[in-house]
Amino acid sequence: MCGINGVVGLNNISEVLFEGIRNLEYRGYDSCGVALMNKKHLIVRKNIGGVEEIFHRENILSKKSRVGIAHTRWATHGTVTQENTHPFTSCDGAFAVVHNGILSNYRFLRDGLIGEGHQFDSDTDTEVIPHLLEKHYKECNDVELALVKTLNMLEGTFALAIISIYHPDQIFCARRESPLMLGIGDELKFVGSDFNAFIDYTKNAIIIGDGEYAILSRDSYVVKSYLTQKEVTKSITKIEWDNEAAKKGGYPHYMLKEIYEQPQTITTALELDSASLDELAGMIQKSENVYLVGVGTTFYVSKFSKYLFSSLAGQFIPAISSDEFTSLATVDKKTLVLTVSQSGETFDTISALKHAKSKGAKTAAIVNVMGSSISRLVDKVILQGSGPEICVISTKAAFTQMVIMMLLALRLGLKRKVLVRKEFDESLAALRELPGIIQSILNERSGFIHRVAHNYAKIKNWLYLGRGIYYPVALESALKMKEVAYVHAEGMSGGFLKHGTLAMVDDEVNTIVFTPPCGDKELYEATLRSVEEIRARSGFVFGIHFNEKGRNKGLFNEELILPNVSPLVAPLIQLVIGQLFAYFTATSLKRNIDKPRFLAKSVTVG
Ligand code: AGP
Repeated sequence: MCGINGVVGLNNISEVLFEGIRNLEYRGYDSCGVALMNKKHLIVRKNIGGVEEIFHRENILSKKSRVGIAHTRWATHGTVTQENTHPFTSCDGAFAVVHNGILSNYRFLRDGLIGEGHQFDSDTDTEVIPHLLEKHYKECNDVELALVKTLNMLEGTFALAIISIYHPDQIFCARRESPLMLGIGDELKFVGSDFNAFIDYTKNAIIIGDGEYAILSRDSYVVKSYLTQKEVTKSITKIEWDNEAAKKGGYPHYMLKEIYEQPQTITTALELDSASLDELAGMIQKSENVYLVGVGTTFYVSKFSKYLFSSLAGQFIPAISSDEFTSLATVDKKTLVLTVSQSGETFDTISALKHAKSKGAKTAAIVNVMGSSISRLVDKVILQGSGPEICVISTKAAFTQMVIMMLLALRLGLKRKVLVRKEFDESLAALRELPGIIQSILNERSGFIHRVAHNYAKIKNWLYLGRGIYYPVALESALKMKEVAYVHAEGMSGGFLKHGTLAMVDDEVNTIVFTPPCGDKELYEATLRSVEEIRARSGFVFGIHFNEKGRNKGLFNEELILPNVSPLVAPLIQLVIGQLFAYFTATSLKRNIDKPRFLAKSVTVG
């Protein structure tokens, strides 16, 4: 949830530290702070606000240092104040610490330390760490040993970066269940929450594992277990992402850039190793019990996929939100848990996987971030290769996961003999058309969606309706609207409407309806029945539908007519409209598009 960066080099690193922590700002942006080593003294600057603002206001770039750590915060313990901003220091000013994660036993530790005379300045769980380091250092005169003793006293989760005046040329770091990696450059060494911290300088990463700590200096590094203190041999992970891909490239916001990247990410997905997808389809086929698991947007990806597996492979696979997984799923050795995650670091999804593994289940994942915790935890991983998704709101990653699920469902359909080869090939051909269709929708329809979004930006409540596979499209589109525009949007299946929510329809509640192509007669007519129900109560409906040759003229108050496409890809086209509608509503309302209030990109706490 928070971003951690640390840099050690031969020359002044302030600028490098600034760039790195700014690249991690999407992980949390309540407040920001740095600790720099100046000869044998620590300079600590921190405050509420974004990275640029704090670096500028605190004049951090004018400070010269060869070793520094930085933090950008998404508050969990303690409100957003300067006192609660990282780094935290020990009473004697010898240690500075930044932390991501949650310490579950901090109250106990804090009470003990206060009893011993330590003075605390914040309400955070993190502040116990520098005081523990100080206490243990006084006992053993050895920073590494003090660190090991401290780590073994902490309960809960952490990724840490620490500097100490006793080793002014080194950074100490450690991890338990919160992401952390090293960047190994020739002249510079880094520690970061993810590789956006250092991708501009090196593509050589070392993933720190749970239970490990590392010591970095300009020309060396060592990784050890904090349980045994024995050295751990680590291999270098080559980051395959292009650093230019993580830049805005002329777009006003990452969200728009990432929506426009979808034709490319679909093409990449279509080129994924078919043997690997086949293997996963085989795992589904062999399992007695399969669950699709994600949370937030990836839960909606899972719900979307549930319809695909039913229709294309003739197999019902339930979707469960990962935060509810342990309460709901029945898991044993014959179970397969297939998770979906952009970041690969989501606490709820990791917890679901750990629960499944503890029961002996097989696990798999579709993940965007290589080297992430989920990608390393599961028995089988499909790396989707969609490139960095910087906007906190997921668009291209989720969209591409849906495409990959289509490929998977088609393969399973073939294996289960629900599809014959001709149907499989035709579906693949339809998918190959998708990048081109989306490109022309983006080119030709964005202006119209912008206008509609702008005209109705003041509407405070939206109902998002869809039936069948268009229901998860409605849910996901509504979530986009909530998170980027802060506008209340309720996704619902069309049939559910008349069972209660219809009572809400008035001139303060608008509806957007995702209509299937009319070739899907039953679903199409059922969807229009919902529209009629709303119109009969004078409700406003914005209809998104496919070229129907003048049918239903006058039914919608506002309409967007899409070109006719294959029924397989039609819901995905509708989803692009949902993404753009949320984006343009948010720009009209002047929202903070890439960093919406109260949110963070990877939710690594439960
Ligand atoms: C998506 O727009 C949201 N920011 C959020 O719901 C997200 O999808 C969820 O937290 C899961 O994240 P993951 O894909 O990184 O696991």
